[in-house]
Amino acid sequence: MHIGRMLIMTLILGLFGQFYANAEQPLKLEAKEGFYQFPFFDTQTAVWSYNDQIPGPLIRGRVGTTLVIDFANRLKEPSSIHWHGLRIENAMDGVPGVTQDPVGPGENFTYRLKLEDAGTFWYHPHFNSSEQLERGLKGVFIVEEAEKQPWSQDWVWLMDDWLFQKDGTIYPHFNTGRDLMHDGRWGNAPTINGNFRPEYQAKPGERIRLRIINGANARVFSPHIEGLSANIIAVDGRPVTKIFVLDRFVLSPGNRIDLDIRIPEQSGGKIFIVEDRFTRKAFELASIKVDQSEPIKSPKFIPPTEANFIPAQMFEKVKGEKTWDLNAIRGGKFGIGWTMNQKLWPDADKVDYPLGLPRKIIFKNSSSRLHPMHIHGVFFRVLERNGQKAVEQFTRDTVLVGPRESVTIGFVPEHTGIWLTHCHIQEHAEAGMMTTIEVKN
Ligand code: C2O
Ligand code: CU
Repeated sequence: MHIGRMLIMTLILGLFGQFYANAEQPLKLEAKEGFYQFPFFDTQTAVWSYNDQIPGPLIRGRVGTTLVIDFANRLKEPSSIHWHGLRIENAMDGVPGVTQDPVGPGENFTYRLKLEDAGTFWYHPHFNSSEQLERGLKGVFIVEEAEKQPWSQDWVWLMDDWLFQKDGTIYPHFNTGRDLMHDGRWGNAPTINGNFRPEYQAKPGERIRLRIINGANARVFSPHIEGLSANIIAVDGRPVTKIFVLDRFVLSPGNRIDLDIRIPEQSGGKIFIVEDRFTRKAFELASIKVDQSEPIKSPKFIPPTEANFIPAQMFEKVKGEKTWDLNAIRGGKFGIGWTMNQKLWPDADKVDYPLGLPRKIIFKNSSSRLHPMHIHGVFFRVLERNGQKAVEQFTRDTVLVGPRESVTIGFVPEHTGIWLTHCHIQEHAEAGMMTTIEVKN
């Protein structure tokens, strides 16, 4: 099946289930097998989902509150939920074998999440992840700011990428040699919130916050909006140090960006195309249709920035750094293993850090593949690329390390516990590319 050959359908974005949560009312997330109607096929596709929704329910909670989430595993295999990017208590981080036991079939686990940071986050399993995420288990988690935000609309786009067979089923072989020799499992059908090329409606003059989350197993996106000015105001759930224009931003699996989009007052009737430009052949992701109504008065405000959040200067005096060499070996459970310092998870080259002291890490990619490296429970700042100063105007929790590239990051361990650190290409992680950072008081 080929996207170009598919019937192009105009899909009106369906409202997908949304939870407004507070501590008194626990949310229930039930992982189970079910079906979903994709626009590409006449038949429904067997999927695994949370609460029968693709993607899972959009969770919204307010910063400073505590959310209680009752996870019910109704799959035929163990699972867990990890809250990607949230700084929470280690015991709630959702990593089987590290922070909790796997949640077995028929079992439940209650997550209590104290929401420390406002921003765009997401959740997904951390067990047999290359298969569980690919079959549909993932959702967006928004932590709302304390005050109501001035944007006229708040759009949430969970990007995904499915590998279908002609008959409309999900290609059932995972962690194949092909996936492992390359940049993981890339699909043949990109979706936004489970829809193909959705059309979004805007009014002239609107100012829209668009949150884009890359929830794909392996595909990297680089969203571009033709003809519209869009500023990046947050990366990986944190306001940026300095607002900048969206231009070839690389959104690797795990990454998020929040955009501030202005719909010009003179644009009634126009359609703006959002396309992906990461691969050589650009393709359409979505469109934004401006209606013919009277222009609305555009809200005037400057989105907040965070100039003082883990600034680069903090790491100038840090002596020494941990280097993790990223490479492949023969062996491991799939015949090809992905290593960090020649070791395969769980026999990993781990590191211990004291609480509160700035630390530097180098991810040194000795392979010719992509590795979006993610650290649980912290935000970090990119300081150098290939030994050259390359301070970014924002912090992250996931950084794409390109072929033969080395990336130096700085961060301050602020929560005790054992924090997983891994490649977010799910197939690479499953094939061994994981370790931990243990933070002790
Ligand atoms: Cu989305 Cu271990 O992470
Ligand atoms: Cu990788």
